[in-house]
Amino acid sequence: MASTITNVEDLRRLAERRVPRMFYDYADSGSWTEGTYRSNTDDFASIKLRQRVAVDMTDRTLASTMAGQPVAMPLALAPTGLTGMQHADGEILAARAAKQAGVPFTLSTMSICSIEDVAADIQSPFWFQLYVMRDRVFANKLIDRAKAAGCSALVLTLDLQILGQRNKDIKNGLSTPPKPTLSNLLNLATKPRWCWGMLNTKRRHFGNIHGHVEGVADMSSLSSWTANQFDPKLDWDDVRRIQDRWGGKLILKGILDPEDAVKAERAGVDTLIVSNHGGRQLDGARSSISALPEIVDAVGSRVEVLMDGGVRSGQDVLKALALGARGVFIGRAFLYGLGALGERGVTLSLDIIRRELDTTLALCGLRDIRDVSRNILDLRMSPSWITPGANAAV
Ligand code: GLV
Repeated sequence: MASTITNVEDLRRLAERRVPRMFYDYADSGSWTEGTYRSNTDDFASIKLRQRVAVDMTDRTLASTMAGQPVAMPLALAPTGLTGMQHADGEILAARAAKQAGVPFTLSTMSICSIEDVAADIQSPFWFQLYVMRDRVFANKLIDRAKAAGCSALVLTLDLQILGQRNKDIKNGLSTPPKPTLSNLLNLATKPRWCWGMLNTKRRHFGNIHGHVEGVADMSSLSSWTANQFDPKLDWDDVRRIQDRWGGKLILKGILDPEDAVKAERAGVDTLIVSNHGGRQLDGARSSISALPEIVDAVGSRVEVLMDGGVRSGQDVLKALALGARGVFIGRAFLYGLGALGERGVTLSLDIIRRELDTTLALCGLRDIRDVSRNILDLRMSPSWITPGANAAV
């Protein structure tokens, strides 16, 4: 089966067969109409590249840096909730694959494997993503635990203090562990590999929370859990406070508007991720890739701009770099690999994207990923939003 896998879509199809419905749907859905979720991929497809010929394509390199750290290619694994429910011990397996590929792995606050478990297994620095809880003592403890585990960047997510409604999660009765309803049990009976993996691990709850806060380890409903635990008051003063406590590299995630990018810069942040949370939060918001050019225009000369949302191929990575991103994050693209084939699937997904990126770079006439600029884009055949201010000028 694995030998016939040639692209990320193949991994998605296999994951859809192997992962229980409620967890596959959790990863693969957007909020409400899923319009923003779809536009993340559609808008990438609308950008056209320039084909160049008769240029020396030997000795290519994809090596770069993200958040000041060397990377084998400008791509990191995004923080994704419940990764250890796509596959047993999912966060540890994904972190191993990322380490082997020379790209950063970001552990979500809402992970199944804990910060300490991942650190003990991979024995090298990873990034930790923070959601700010109402219980500030617990939020501070998370920051301190990430520091103690040697995490080399803190990714602070700003766009999910209230949960965007994902219709499928409600219909599936999403909970960890799965509720033993008849339809869930029938579905689990068709996923023997997944069940076997889960029976052989003890990691089936929120690893960062279980045992650290009373009564919040089991999630009966994601939206009520978030409403009870996440702090909707989070503001720019909190960002400064968190930066002070953390003291290391801080990356802000969830910036989609140039005005917020400017505010982030004023708060002293030097790295941000243009993101609409994979289309899972504000349905009706623009795609991440279409927000990128204006944000780069507003702060890009002083702030390192990264992006996520809709990246499914090496061509997408190259397009984001051409529009000014220093690097990208993949979420679903690696989760599909994980759900399909575990660690091997994440490695496969990274290999697929790396090969696509390398070949696309060459066919655009370049040899060094750090030379990518707007010059590789076909401006006439691409949407006008790739040029910041283009609409204002008309
Ligand atoms: C959590 O990060 C989610 O999007 O569900």
